[in-house]
Amino acid sequence: MTNQAKLGQPRSRLVIHDLAQRNGHAEFSRDIREGLSSYPKHLFPKYLYDELGSRLFEAICEVDEYYLTRAEDEILKTHADEIVAGIPDCDTLIELGSGSAEKTRTVIDTFMRQRRELLFIPVDISASTLAESAHALLDSYPSLRIDAYASDYFQALDALPPLGRNPVLVLFLGSNIGNFEPTEARNFLSAIRRVLRPEDVLLLGVDLKKDRQTLEAAYNDSLGVTRAFIVNELGRINRELNANFDLWAFGLRSFFNEQAGRVEVYLESLRAQSVEIRELNMSIHLEAGERIYVESAYKYDLNDLRRFGKEAGFDLEQTWLDKQKRFSSNLFRAAN
Ligand code: AVI
Repeated sequence: MTNQAKLGQPRSRLVIHDLAQRNGHAEFSRDIREGLSSYPKHLFPKYLYDELGSRLFEAICEVDEYYLTRAEDEILKTHADEIVAGIPDCDTLIELGSGSAEKTRTVIDTFMRQRRELLFIPVDISASTLAESAHALLDSYPSLRIDAYASDYFQALDALPPLGRNPVLVLFLGSNIGNFEPTEARNFLSAIRRVLRPEDVLLLGVDLKKDRQTLEAAYNDSLGVTRAFIVNELGRINRELNANFDLWAFGLRSFFNEQAGRVEVYLESLRAQSVEIRELNMSIHLEAGERIYVESAYKYDLNDLRRFGKEAGFDLEQTWLDKQKRFSSNLFRAAN
């Protein structure tokens, strides 16, 4: 059942469907137990994004070494007119993983100039981030309507309302696709394709393969914001499962695994230590130097993307790159 909340001003233009609350704590508990009792130990990237984690990710997007956000912004600012003009009559914009929706403003601005009216359907795992960004957008755009889903992506795709007559544009920006394993990424593109009709469009932001130094710096910035973001998952376990991780006792290790085409992000225990997770009635031990696998960030080239799209029922119609050719925005059209 959808726990539907109509929040704030102006009420008639905003609906938030809070699907994330259902079983959230039970699922978190189960996954943390499973991940920390496996060998090697691992954590799940989706739990990085509680309220603090989402703010820390916004800060990552500002640091010098994390070029992805600026590169994608440059592409959207340069090409949004062309992108929107290429989908005549489109009046619905769905964004998976909308976060603060800052980058989306470039696309919404363009819709407002070209079409005047728009239904925006943002999907984000963090209900608080979603509510905050939705209110800010409604303040900026008087004719915008928002139907928001606080949910994981697959759940939201199942819960979307029937699409209207006109074409829709789905945004999946920021190289979020890179945090899926390749098989999951393919399944996810297929799941998106299943809710779309021929001629609907997916704009997919994907970070490209490049030199090791640039990639490793992007996932281990000198200000330490990425470390704070990743360590916050242990902080979250402390807060929500009554654990006693010493956050100073973990370092961040990020490596580009060239053969696998991914940056691997680990937490490394800086000393031998034991940790109690009281709510799970669980105690874990870490050796000095033992690593916990937290996330993968896959990097692709354009041939991989074309193939991925084809397998999921999309044609890659156009790709735009930033000036330094670090990042790609890819327009996929749902095939017949
Ligand atoms: C959200 N996602 C695309 C980020 C990335 O680049 O893989 C998450 C991230 N992890 C560490 N830095 C950024």
